[in-house]
Formats: sequence, structure tokens, C-alpha cells
Amino acid sequence: MESVCLSSTGSIAKLSSFAILLVFLLSCSTFTCTEAYDPLDPTGNITIKWDIISWTPDGYVAVVTMYNFQQYRHIQAPGWTLGWTWAKKEVIWSMMGGQTTDQGDCSKFKGVTPHCCRKDPTVVDLLPGTPYNQQVANCCKGGVLNSWAQDPTNAASSFQVSVGSAGTTNKTVRVPKNFTLKAPGPGYTCSPAKIVRPTKFITSDKRRVTQALMTWNVTCTYSQFLASKTPTCCVSLSSFYNDTIVNCPTCTCGCQNNKTDPGSCVDRDSPYLASVVSGQGKNLNTPLVQCTSHMCPIRVHWHVKLNYKEYWRVKVTITNFNYRMNYTQWNLVVQHPNFDNLTELFSFYYKSLTPYAGLNDTAMLWGVKFYNDFLSTAGPLGNVQSEILFRKDKSTFTFDKGWAFPRRIYFNGDNCVMPPPDSYPWLPNASSQLIFSILYTVLVILASLAVLLSQA
Ligand SMILES: *[C@@H]1O[C@H](CO)[C@@H](O)[C@H](O)[C@H]1NC(C)=O
Ligand SMILES: *[C@@H]1O[C@H](CO)[C@@H](O)[C@H](O)[C@H]1NC(C)=O
Ligand SMILES: *[C@@H]1O[C@H](CO)[C@@H](O)[C@H](O)[C@H]1NC(C)=O
Ligand SMILES: *[C@@H]1O[C@H](CO)[C@@H](O)[C@H](O)[C@H]1NC(C)=O
Ligand SMILES: *[C@@H]1O[C@H](CO)[C@@H](O)[C@H](O)[C@H]1NC(C)=O
Ligand SMILES: *[C@@H]1O[C@H](CO)[C@@H](O)[C@H](O)[C@H]1NC(C)=O
Ligand SMILES: *[C@@H]1O[C@H](CO)[C@@H](O)[C@H](O)[C@H]1NC(C)=O
Ligand SMILES: *[C@@H]1O[C@H](CO)[C@@H](O)[C@H](O)[C@H]1NC(C)=O
Ligand SMILES: *[C@@H]1O[C@H](CO)[C@@H](O)[C@H](O)[C@H]1NC(C)=O
Repeated sequence: MESVCLSSTGSIAKLSSFAILLVFLLSCSTFTCTEAYDPLDPTGNITIKWDIISWTPDGYVAVVTMYNFQQYRHIQAPGWTLGWTWAKKEVIWSMMGGQTTDQGDCSKFKGVTPHCCRKDPTVVDLLPGTPYNQQVANCCKGGVLNSWAQDPTNAASSFQVSVGSAGTTNKTVRVPKNFTLKAPGPGYTCSPAKIVRPTKFITSDKRRVTQALMTWNVTCTYSQFLASKTPTCCVSLSSFYNDTIVNCPTCTCGCQNNKTDPGSCVDRDSPYLASVVSGQGKNLNTPLVQCTSHMCPIRVHWHVKLNYKEYWRVKVTITNFNYRMNYTQWNLVVQHPNFDNLTELFSFYYKSLTPYAGLNDTAMLWGVKFYNDFLSTAGPLGNVQSEILFRKDKSTFTFDKGWAFPRRIYFNGDNCVMPPPDSYPWLPNASSQLIFSILYTVLVILASLAVLLSQA
């Protein structure tokens, strides 16, 4: 009798957790369908602004500025490249704070040769340490563009371009077409340029306002789907209350296959590691990952570590499995209902993100400068970690049904694949069975008491 009752409550518990899993799964699948739109950063974009600051006899001088308005997606070394197609036969006479990668064919120019004659110039930033006479404000950072939440003072990048064979009034000038922004890989899609109200500049002493002669804007948005066919990051889970370590799903970012794809990964203790890592002529921008079951360059591990009366503690570890990438100024976005009452974060910075009023369960974490903001290539130094102390809200807190695990994690703005919710470490059933059997015993005693009383 007792065992029958117990198993039926067991299945009720399973049913309710199944319902929760279903909700998880549905929210996950809607997310993957709309990946180009990021619900945690709905207005995130990179805006490119061209300000014409003077007209010249055959064209104009413009300052081009890129603003990274994305909360948590940055562009790290080797930096951005910006391309466009001229509407007419424009040339670039000279540039400051940036350069084109290819001069093109300038043979029809006698005397002074232009900086670039290509119809579709590609511009890159200059490197730090560029002589002052070639700099402009916000230039020369090697194309690194920080994110708005992490470092707004370094979220803009500028160069100056002097254009010839172009319109010389705001009626005759033609806006360039077909803007492309690479970071340096694909991922961004840019809108056509739109003429907007001329920018107003305020002098540093705030006593005078000047104005661009003409301004146009281009908006570029990111899609993870365009950036990479496969995921690049996965999540593994563990807890103090269950020995199971839930690893990243197998083949999340690719599969190990010696036959069809030899050399797709490197064993940690391979004697040839050093020579393979140095590339030997291979493209150094393609990731070279350590052989794992998931094959992801990045793994985020969430360990539910301790349970106190008023608080609970989580340890987060980010591990780099990529032998060809140091991640500088990395960041993590984590969604968990308890982020509305985080008490302390150790050795990482923290900022709560509120993309909508009332949404307060999402936070951005990043490393401390010169301490752990640099995530080294795969190997003994290739990880960073931190602990988070949350204050329990009695009405929502539970270790049951995977509540203590994150709902969503991004690394550098890219979604990290979570293990399937039905594999999360469960609370040992023993405790719920114990409570039930105590309840049951009490009921049995009460019932027998009632029987006894009615017979008396
Ligand atoms: C780009 O981002 C800025 C700042 O968040 C925002 O004001 C603007 O509306 C965004 N543009 C688009 C096209 O989303
Ligand atoms: C062009 O310049 C004239 C004044 O020179 C101004 O009235 C007009 O609004 C400008 N047009 C644009 C598109 O900036
Ligand atoms: C726009 O740029 C892309 C890539 O640079 C190129 O493939 C495409 O042909 C260009 N389109 C136009 C209309 O120039
Ligand atoms: C153009 O870009 C600038 C700088 O990002 C921004 O301040 C301005 O609002 C933008 N204009 C429009 C119409 O989007
Ligand atoms: C792949 O090959 C390596 C040696 O080249 C071997 O150690 C490893 O077990 C192989 N992996 C699989 C999945 O066959
Ligand atoms: C990663 O950083 C280390 C230390 O700064 C450097 O020696 C190494 O060459 C870098 N590796 C790559 C692939 O950039
Ligand atoms: C967070 O949002 C929830 C629901 O929107 C609300 O009930 C809760 O009070 C908020 N927490 C804080 C600390 O604002
Ligand atoms: C958050 O924690 C503070 C104390 O640290 C507490 O006063 C407050 O009620 C908590 N808010 C929620 C929504 O749990
Ligand atoms: C730990 O969690 C797993 C699910 O990941 C479950 O199968 C197992 O029964 C749990 N262990 C205990 C002791 O409850």
C-alpha cells in the first residue's frame, strides 16, 4: 500500500517537472527561431555616422565614427573592417586615423596619387602608437570597439577621409552604398545610409557649438546565425546536492571524427601540440579546439556550491578550449530569476541589464582589468572563475526542478547551448519521499485513531 502511494506521488512530481521542462524547451526553441533579434538587447546596433566637416574644390572631408551601442557585444583584436561601394567615381585622396587595405588602380592620376582608387574601399583602424600627426580623436585602437555597458568611453572609433571626384554641395554629393562591417568575420548586416539632421559639435569649453555640413547614418545589426553556422559556446552544470556533473551536450559545436575530418581538434597531451598550434601556414583565424565531446571553443560551468540560511552561492568557471584565441575583455550575460537580488560577486564586475521595464533577472559579468579580463588560449591558464552570492527570496527560492541553474547564458554576446533540462542534477528524491512518508504515517495514525474512536 505504502509503496504504491509513494510511486504515484513520484510520478506526479515527474509530471510537474516535465511541464516545467516543456516551458523551458518552448522558450528555447522560440529563441533559436528569432536569433537575429536579441531579446536581451533589443536596440543593440553599431551606428556609423559620416559627418561632412568641409567641402573641397573636388569633394569633401568627412569624419566617420562608429558607435557600438550594443550592451555586451564588442569587437576584439584583430578588429573591425569597414567597406562600402562609391556611388560615382569617388576616390580617397587621404586618410587620418585609418587606412584602406588596398590602394587599387590609380594609374589614371598623374602627379599626386590618391590613397585609394577602388570602387569598393575597405578601411581598417590604425594601430596604437601611430604618430600623432596621423591620428584623429577615437582612432588608432587596432579596430577594437568595446561594448556600451562594459566600457562606454571606448565604444567609439573614428577616422577622417578626404574624398575627391565627388559632389561638392549637399545637393550633388552622393552617399556611398552597400556598407559592410566585419568583426573581422561575418555577422553584421548594415542598412543603407540615411541622410539625417547634421550633427552638432560642442567645443570642449562648452562655449561654442558647430555643426556638420551634412550627416548620414548607417545602422549595422548582428546575427549569431550569420556569424557562425554552429554554436561556439556551451554550458555544463553541477551542484553540491547531487554528484552528477551534467556535461555540455555531445557534439554541441561539432563532432570529433578522425575519418572525415582529421585534425579538427587537438588532444591535450598530443606531442605535436606546439607545432599544430603555431599554425604552420594554416589560417590562424579559424579556431583550433582541444578534443572534447562538445568541441566548443568556450565552456561555461555553473556549480551550485553552497546553501546558507539566507543566501546561496554559485561558482562560475569559463574555460577556453581554443588554442588560437585569447579572449580580451570577455563578458558573460546570465539570466536567472535571483539576479534581482544579487548580494555579492567576487572577482568579476557586474551590471544588471534591464532591456524592458520590469525585467530584472539578467546581468552582465566581466573580468577585472589586469586581473582576469584576459582569457588565455586553451591550456592551464585558459580559464577564469568567480563566485556569486545570492540572497534567497523565500517566495521563489528552491533547489528543486533545476531552479538554481541559469535560464540563458551568452559569452561575448553569443548564446551558449544549455544541456537538456531533463538532465539537470535533481535534488535527491529521498527528502521528498521522507516528507511524504512522515505525512503518510501521520495520516495513517490519525485514521486509525478515528477508527478506534468511532468504535469506542
Ligand atoms: C541603435 O542604437 C541606439 C542606441 O541604443 C538607438 O537609439 C537606435 O534607435 C538604434 N537604431 C536602430 C535602428 O535600432
Ligand atoms: C543643404 O544646405 C542648405 C544650405 O546651404 C540647407 O538649407 C539644406 O537644408 C541642406 N540640405 C541638406 C540635405 O542638408
Ligand atoms: C555589396 O557588397 C557585397 C560584398 O562586398 C557584394 O557581394 C555585392 O555584390 C555588393 N552589392 C552591390 C550592389 O554592390
Ligand atoms: C545618427 O547617429 C548618431 C550617432 O550615433 C545619433 O546620435 C543620431 O541620433 C542618429 N540619427 C538617426 C536619425 O538615427
Ligand atoms: C582519433 O585519433 C586519435 C589519434 O590520432 C586517437 O587517439 C583518438 O582516440 C581518435 N578518436 C576517435 C573518436 O576515433
Ligand atoms: C595569447 O596571448 C599570449 C600572451 O599575451 C601570447 O603569447 C600569445 O601569442 C597569444 N596567442 C594568440 C593566438 O593570440
Ligand atoms: C523584479 O521583477 C519582478 C517581476 O517583474 C518583481 O516582482 C520584483 O519585485 C522585481 N525585483 C526588484 C528587486 O525590483
Ligand atoms: C533583496 O534583498 C534586500 C536585502 O539585501 C531585501 O531587503 C529585499 O527585500 C530583497 N528583495 C527581494 C525582491 O527579494
Ligand atoms: C542526480 O541527478 C540525476 C539527473 O541528472 C538523477 O538521475 C539522479 O537520480 C540524481 N541523484 C540523486 C542522488 O538524486
